[in-house]
Amino acid sequence: MPYNSQFFVFEGIDGSGKTTVSRLVSEALLTKSIPNLWHREPTDSVYGKKIREFLQGKLKLTKEEQIETFIADREYSVNEIILPTLKGGKSIIQDRYYFSTAAYQGRDEEHAAEILYKNEDKGFPEPNRVYFLDLSPEESADRRKSRGGREEVFDEDSEQERIYQNYLAILPESTIFVDATAELEEVVAFCVEDILKSLET
Ligand code: TYD
Repeated sequence: MPYNSQFFVFEGIDGSGKTTVSRLVSEALLTKSIPNLWHREPTDSVYGKKIREFLQGKLKLTKEEQIETFIADREYSVNEIILPTLKGGKSIIQDRYYFSTAAYQGRDEEHAAEILYKNEDKGFPEPNRVYFLDLSPEESADRRKSRGGREEVFDEDSEQERIYQNYLAILPESTIFVDATAELEEVVAFCVEDILKSLET
């Protein structure tokens, strides 16, 4: 069965494990000889670097400035990485996409929807599948506390609650909700199976 290249996105609140899961999924697919690239947003572009300074609290940005900077970084991400990789025959396994901008920068559900439309209007490609690593804001708080490390701007518990509600309001109906409290191997195996099914279509 010939495999085409497709675009897979992992989303979730902080502590949901999407970075670990998406990396392991990418590696598992490589061992099955499925060509793919693991990619994350924010990227390492100049905009991505500005975003990281903001996330660490070293730079202040208004909500509007955050949205513009994430979109500028995404333009780079789409044009320089996502589209050329897909055209070259490799799938993309991506950690965060425009659903993150809607969920994180959205003041409330209505604003989150507006941000989503703004991104869609830019003509950014739609993913073939979105996996939402579902973790309650309370679990997220417990995981972030036990993990320790440097505080980031969205670390407040009330922030994670707002972000979680925004996600529920804006994720596409076809989103695959994955229980982020399940065993890591189980979560990875489930996503790999689902991606293989998608690639066969
Ligand atoms: P990152 O270091 O990738 O953290 P994590 O592994 O927890 O995802 O930092 C990403 C942070 O940036 C995360 O707190 C979410 C935030 N973010 C936005 O606020 N808007 C966006 O559009 C994106 C892509 C990320």
